[in-house]
Amino acid sequence: MKTIFEGVNTANTAGVDGVSFGEYNLGQFIPQELIRKNPIGLPQLSELEVMRHYKELSDKNFCIEKGFYPLGSCTMKYNPKVNELLASLENFCSLHPEQEDDDAQGSLELMFNLQEALKVLTGMDAVTLQPAAGAHGELTGMMIIKKYFEVKGELNRRKVIVPDSAHGTNPASAKMCGFDIVEVKSNEKGQVDIETLKNLLDENVAAIMMTNPNTLGIFEENVLEISELMHNNGSLLYYDGANFNAIMGWTNPRLMGFDVVHLNLHKTFSTPHGGGGPGSGPVCVREELKDFLPSPIIKLVNSKYVRDYNISHSIGKVRSFFGNFGVMVRAYAYILMMGNNLKLASADAVLNANYIKEKLKGVYELPYNESCMHEFVLSGEKQHKQGVSTLGIAKRLMDSNCHPPTIYFPLIVHEAIMIEPTESESKQVLDNFIDTMLRIAREIEENPEEVLKSPQTTPIKKVDETLAARKPDLVFKQ
Ligand SMILES: Cc1ncc(COP(=O)(O)O)c(C=O)c1O
Repeated sequence: MKTIFEGVNTANTAGVDGVSFGEYNLGQFIPQELIRKNPIGLPQLSELEVMRHYKELSDKNFCIEKGFYPLGSCTMKYNPKVNELLASLENFCSLHPEQEDDDAQGSLELMFNLQEALKVLTGMDAVTLQPAAGAHGELTGMMIIKKYFEVKGELNRRKVIVPDSAHGTNPASAKMCGFDIVEVKSNEKGQVDIETLKNLLDENVAAIMMTNPNTLGIFEENVLEISELMHNNGSLLYYDGANFNAIMGWTNPRLMGFDVVHLNLHKTFSTPHGGGGPGSGPVCVREELKDFLPSPIIKLVNSKYVRDYNISHSIGKVRSFFGNFGVMVRAYAYILMMGNNLKLASADAVLNANYIKEKLKGVYELPYNESCMHEFVLSGEKQHKQGVSTLGIAKRLMDSNCHPPTIYFPLIVHEAIMIEPTESESKQVLDNFIDTMLRIAREIEENPEEVLKSPQTTPIKKVDETLAARKPDLVFKQ
């Protein structure tokens, strides 16, 4: 009997099909009623054509390698290229996840050391590396909190408090775990309003989810009082670590009184992640919660690294195998490379954000006029009244080889423009951005119609925002 690959044409000479299954009759192996009646319509292309297609798509894509990318809350910092080299080492890439512990000691050691490093950075006692993104970390953390109260017999704790400045994934994650969401308002300083919070507390509150610095880029100065209030109420504190790039080595969630933390390794610890690439959202917890973590945890037992599945109240697995290992390699490499300079990276990120803020305030409205951490939020309200919304400003920036900042988030700022420069950029890049933002403000005053024509230099001009995000057009066309 012939194998199914006999007769398959794998020639890749220009103009000849790359791989063609057209000639071979597979029908003999498949029941007649399951055989497709019409051609499938896949393009038949040579290797060269396929390569050109993907190169063209990549040329159209804006990335940190092309220009400034101050996308607030996303930490689009420089991702050292050596990380890529390490993550692509043969022995990491080709290791099978079912390999015995004995055969995978190097990779297990890396995961163990990363767990230890994250414990030091967060001040927590135990870590799971499984969650595949920040939002997935939130879900895992809230599942842990839910199970903790179930085991304690406090089934009444059904409410989770979320500040009105929070990222949308916070209430969504808590809701997916079956909690009821209670919103707490921010005060005039852009921070959790303590008096309002006190009024929301009762025996049904399981936890508060906070981001610190918060999504306005402001450090919650009352965080210790909040932690005391919550703990006195028998409730827990969840720390959304998306903004960890602001505080590395200066403070940690443990010192602030948090019980459960997620980190976004792809942001703070350098993995290219624009466009939704693989992420990693480890969850770190205090001692009292370690028996609820997903299994396995990597342990060192008698000088051997092992996967420990024996976790008494584990919420179960949240991801196949162990999570996105490649992102862990990058994060570990970055942490080793930076060492104590992580502290300097946060300091520079904060300095850069304050520098831009001081230069732009006055021309653009700054609703919360506070010292910021690694990012800050302007309002394009004044420019909106002059005829160009924040969306228009974002599009205009694209004509100056600059990725737009995050816009219309957080929701509590009208016409929000959220700027996070990161530590990676030179003063010259920051100055160019400042000049561009000031020029756009002048253009809006003088000739808003012209601004509304942007973007004009991008491969694709005006798009339907929603459709473009949901149905990206990536298909090969002759
Ligand atoms: C404050 C905050 N929390 C949570 C998330 C969710 O993280 P991820 O995109 O990795 O799921 C984000 C993402 O931008 C964020 O900015």
